[in-house]
Amino acid sequence: MHHYGANVMIPPQTDEHLQVLEALATAVLVVGMDRRISFMNPAAENLLQTSTQRGMGRDVIEMLPLGVTLQAALMAAQQGATTTLREETLVRPGNAEELSVDCTVSPFSSRSESGSMIIELNRVDQLTRIARDTWVHERQDALNQIVRALAHEIKNPLGGLRGAAQLLDRELPRRELREYTYIITHEADRLSGLVDRLTGGFHVMDHEPFNLHAVLEHVRKLILVEIPQGIQFERDYDPSIPEICGDRAQMIQAVLNVVRNAVQAMNNRGQINLRTRVRRQYTLRNQRHRLVLEASITDNGPGIEPELIGRVFFPMVTGRADGTGLGLALAQEIVHRHDGLIECTSQPGHTCFTLYLPVKASQ
Ligand SMILES: Nc1ncnc2c1ncn2[C@@H]1O[C@H](COP(=O)(O)OP(=O)(O)OP(=O)(O)O)[C@@H](O)[C@H]1O
Ligand SMILES: [Mg+2]
Repeated sequence: MHHYGANVMIPPQTDEHLQVLEALATAVLVVGMDRRISFMNPAAENLLQTSTQRGMGRDVIEMLPLGVTLQAALMAAQQGATTTLREETLVRPGNAEELSVDCTVSPFSSRSESGSMIIELNRVDQLTRIARDTWVHERQDALNQIVRALAHEIKNPLGGLRGAAQLLDRELPRRELREYTYIITHEADRLSGLVDRLTGGFHVMDHEPFNLHAVLEHVRKLILVEIPQGIQFERDYDPSIPEICGDRAQMIQAVLNVVRNAVQAMNNRGQINLRTRVRRQYTLRNQRHRLVLEASITDNGPGIEPELIGRVFFPMVTGRADGTGLGLALAQEIVHRHDGLIECTSQPGHTCFTLYLPVKASQ
């Protein structure tokens, strides 16, 4: 329990202190004795999915729906006591995902302010999530290596096969026999194309700045040309997102693969929501980034079959009779090349793929 008496000297806030607060992974809110918010750090904005502008002056109970336990903690802080609430469930308005947080409420007073309270929030599921990310990536990397090795072993003999078939083709005495050599070359080409797609095919990657909204819009228009009716797009774009660096064409391919799946799952009839946001101080694949773009693609189709859900990003996993099961593996490969992460959650009526892409500091 802390109690800051009136005679405790706290130095006035400096820029450096502010920077420390801004860099903290812990979400920090400062509220007045009347419970109105006077400060939120970026981690708090992230966690509560709001901006300081929107939160400022509002009753913290509205922004932080933790119920009576929070009210009790605030009352205790008004009396000078610090309380920590463990593993509280935080449901944010308009967001289906529930978070588990530890919440500490302490009284605070400085020379400039008569009295206020500090609320600290820590996600307790964040650590397990990061550990899981790493695990998934290690497994995926191992799989990719196997696929690459296999692809190499298949492609070399295919070249020989094709060359031999062409030589044979010239020597054939009867024209109608050419049908057989045609099948050999045609099938060799098809296999080789498949292997290229499996391994990503493109070894060079652009590093040009591009706008993620332009990518989403490009895909949206492509789909609307393919299927002029039946698919309704909703857009919820964060206009403040900065450009990212990378390969725009590949990113279009990745998003297109995800959106096509949604269209196919919904049988060309349904709604697709495209949403972008900026995340601050976000950890991806064990690396902390100052800024990360988040793009989610949500459809209201039947959802991913439960037995596939843990494996959809693996190559050759498909739920469709005519699917090759490469679309999402390729999308993931492309997102990884941009040091990003792709995740999905699915239930009937709500399937959401989210891409996280870091904005590099050098930009
Ligand atoms: N939005 C979605 N709704 C329902 N199921 C989906 C959705 N996205 C993917 N899936 C499931 O995941 C499987 C794998 O998708 P992926 O794009 O990797 O392969 P594919 O679509 O089957 O074949 P390809 O894209 O190579 O033509 C799909 O076959 C489908 O069963
Ligand atoms: Mg697909």
